Amino acid sequence: MKKLEQLYEGKAKKVFKTDVEDYLIVSYKDDATAFNGLKKGTISGKGEINNLMSNQLFQYLEKNGISTHFVETIDERDTVVKSVDIVPLEVIVRNVAAGSFSKRLGVEEGLEFEQPTVEFSYKNDDLGDPLINDSFAIALKLASQDEIDKIKEMALKINDLLKAYFIEKNIKLIDFKLEFGRFHGDIILADEISPDTCRLWDKDTNQKLDKDRFRRDMGDVEGAYSEVRNRLGF
Ligand code: C5P
Repeated sequence: MKKLEQLYEGKAKKVFKTDVEDYLIVSYKDDATAFNGLKKGTISGKGEINNLMSNQLFQYLEKNGISTHFVETIDERDTVVKSVDIVPLEVIVRNVAAGSFSKRLGVEEGLEFEQPTVEFSYKNDDLGDPLINDSFAIALKLASQDEIDKIKEMALKINDLLKAYFIEKNIKLIDFKLEFGRFHGDIILADEISPDTCRLWDKDTNQKLDKDRFRRDMGDVEGAYSEVRNRLGF
């Protein structure tokens, strides 16, 4: 497959056209941003880790009945994916209070929930990705009720599968963000699953092994990403 012209450059990835209809190539960068682009930096080796980790997890999810955009890994940074029409929602699943949940609701980080929460943000940089609910998403014509029901069902199933996967590696899945897309009439999982988009805490010490180390200037960001890579064995 040929990598043709660049279609788009996002905060963490570039997207290229290919010579095959319906297929794109995503190329992961080491660039890191936080707080809607206000904080910028580089996490050396992040592109490789996020690419290979996403691909490993997407293959695991596929084996367990979740349709994803993953097609094939080209190399450490580049992957062939299906070209989807992205549903402009950030779908966040939480098992433990942290981040914006703790801040907004005055809850200490680390409180474990009896059942996971699912929330939506409207993917819109100009508005700072505001929190919305199902009826707002429908009013804004971001998705249909059927699509929202499907997305929630898939998000909760993905949570069960990922929690089980990470705990085997001595990692607690605190929360994560997913994006979905439309592909030939179906809703499939798109984007990435990586330490950029998940909160991952060591099971025994609660040490943070994710992008919060960059967001909060905690140091040893690269070390945390490498630790996840070692534990997942890729
Ligand atoms: O900041 P907040 O607590 O809402 O983040 C919840 C989860 O979603 C975290 O795992 C975070 O890494 C992820 N997230 C993301 N991209 C965003 C916002 C949140 O990957 N734009």
